[in-house]
Amino acid sequence: MDQWKFFDITHREHVFCNPMSVEKFEELIALLRLKPGAQVLEIATGKGEFIIRLAERYEIEGTGIDLSPYHVSDAVKKCTERIPDAHLTFLEMDGASFKPDQPESFDMVACIGASWIYGGHKETLKALKEMAAPGSWVVVGEPYWQQEPVAEYLEAIGEARSSFGTHYENAEAGQALGLELVYTLVSSPDDWDQYEGLQWYAATEWADKHPHDPDAGEVLKRVRQNRMNYLRWGRDTIGWSIYVFKKDDGIHSQ
Ligand SMILES: C[S@@+](CC[C@H](N)C(=O)[O-])C[C@H]1O[C@@H](n2cnc3c(N)ncnc32)[C@H](O)[C@@H]1O
Repeated sequence: MDQWKFFDITHREHVFCNPMSVEKFEELIALLRLKPGAQVLEIATGKGEFIIRLAERYEIEGTGIDLSPYHVSDAVKKCTERIPDAHLTFLEMDGASFKPDQPESFDMVACIGASWIYGGHKETLKALKEMAAPGSWVVVGEPYWQQEPVAEYLEAIGEARSSFGTHYENAEAGQALGLELVYTLVSSPDDWDQYEGLQWYAATEWADKHPHDPDAGEVLKRVRQNRMNYLRWGRDTIGWSIYVFKKDDGIHSQ
């Protein structure tokens, strides 16, 4: 079935489409202290909640990019309802194809939960760093191994041990590129349970309302499989963090 349709169905109850709580996102937004006119780019913006909240709090000019037609249309609708005068643009396109008018021009560049776009965590940091202005924020959300994954789990989720790093390795990847790690937000087991549980809930609600949809069986089958993988292995094995880096402005490195 269409992957965007599946993701739309399973994330209808979510405010943010990743395992971080709304409260922790609010904490992050408060810390970013963006100046009026700040230029913000969010790759894989999802339903746009992060960039919309940033625009509600600060007078930013922002671009949110996502490949899902469902999410981009949700983001545009939400933005129009909540902050019609905001200087936000949403583009439905592959994040990897986005090329800024000028390199090193954004005051914040984020990619939360979609590092595959650039081929992994390190490559994402590299790509974002090239678009970020000196002294600006580079914000990424990435899974990490809490413990060594067993082979059965890797096979079940279709990932390799090398797909993700440890929390320390994720942090060090930025440092190795000259990005200073200034903050991390880490999902608690509660945050994870909410993120996963809302997918089971949303899928069941949707299937109850659309029993004749040709994809109903497939949606429930995939969600049951994901639920089993999470409860059996994922809950103890995989973590999630948002890493907040600052790009060198040439002053602090001296
Ligand atoms: C885990 S979700 C995170 C969404 C959002 N950052 C959030 O945290 O709410 C991953 C997002 O990546 C988007 N995506 C997947 N592949 C993409 C691509 N090649 N270019 C842009 N967006 C992509 C999906 O549509 C989805 O919205």
